[in-house]
Amino acid sequence: MSEPSEDLSAFIAGLPKAELHIHIEGSLEPEQMFEFARRNRVDLPFASVEEIRQAYRFTRLQDFLDIYYEGARVLLTEQDFHDLGMAYFRRLAADSGRHAELFFDPQTHTDRGLPFQVAADGLLSAMAQAERELGVTSKLILCFLRHLDEDAAFATLKAAEPWLDRIAGVGLDSSELGHPPSKFARVFHAAGERGLKRVAHAGEEGPPQYVWEALDILRVDRIDHGNRALEDPALTARLAADGMTLTVCPLSNQKLCVVDDLAAHPLPLMLALGLKPTINSDDPAYFGGYLNANYRAVAEATGLSREALATLARNSFTGAFLDEAATARHVAEIDAYVAGSSGKA
Ligand code: ADE
Ligand code: ZN
Repeated sequence: MSEPSEDLSAFIAGLPKAELHIHIEGSLEPEQMFEFARRNRVDLPFASVEEIRQAYRFTRLQDFLDIYYEGARVLLTEQDFHDLGMAYFRRLAADSGRHAELFFDPQTHTDRGLPFQVAADGLLSAMAQAERELGVTSKLILCFLRHLDEDAAFATLKAAEPWLDRIAGVGLDSSELGHPPSKFARVFHAAGERGLKRVAHAGEEGPPQYVWEALDILRVDRIDHGNRALEDPALTARLAADGMTLTVCPLSNQKLCVVDDLAAHPLPLMLALGLKPTINSDDPAYFGGYLNANYRAVAEATGLSREALATLARNSFTGAFLDEAATARHVAEIDAYVAGSSGKA
């Protein structure tokens, strides 16, 4: 993959941005996987970092999920989750990231016998440290695993009860095909009654019908991915009319063969249709790049302009679960940045 011009790379590097679609377990780098495995005495089915990277060849979502859940077994202590979170926040800050809304998958950990508290408190302490030391703000989103049943999701919501004042919302992830949003209608309703925001992966591999269900049955505040919504003009019009934020993940789409070729990525079309896409890394340790790598790759492949990139960065703040004053501050920072960069070739 070639890189965008030096100027465009520099523009992306300094552009203030938020990340709205990052699975924190998907930021577990192979080196860190080995370190945690060693300190926790967990056996890994890989002999080296190179061998792990060799295994990251996927043709569909499930290929990735199998290895992602396997990798997560090395996470055993609050300190592990804290270190995982801090490693991510340092990379985000280096990418001019100002804010992140982190997904975590509690069931991946509670099903291995860890109390809910271990992942939640480890991540919350990293979030507090990132704000203090890096000036990066963040929110936490609890994802239900859709390949499990709704009762298990209810049990997770119950386990999360003591933390709900520190959790911004619920999400829906894991194997999409065969697990429509409607399967989680009751638990999303219960989450809404507790004042939680709602998001769901939909239209990554699943059909437009799943995006309709996420909107009409789960009543989501954002759609994660949403690529396949473009197959349905009425759905596209609905998303535009609602001003619905889409958290799009270019390198993930390429690695999981959701798109054949990054040059044919639907991001420019989403912008042209009046939708509100954002750029995100999804599972950066597995898909080959963090936030700026995603901006660079899709800009290079599709020819996005600086103005389009600035719009995408603005969308990341207007689509975030930030209050109005914080959103306005971040958007003003982007406007000043763009004004200061204009005229430079
Ligand atoms: N869990 C982690 N990454 C995911 C993705 N891209 N889609 C669904 N579930 C996920
Ligand atoms: Zn995702």
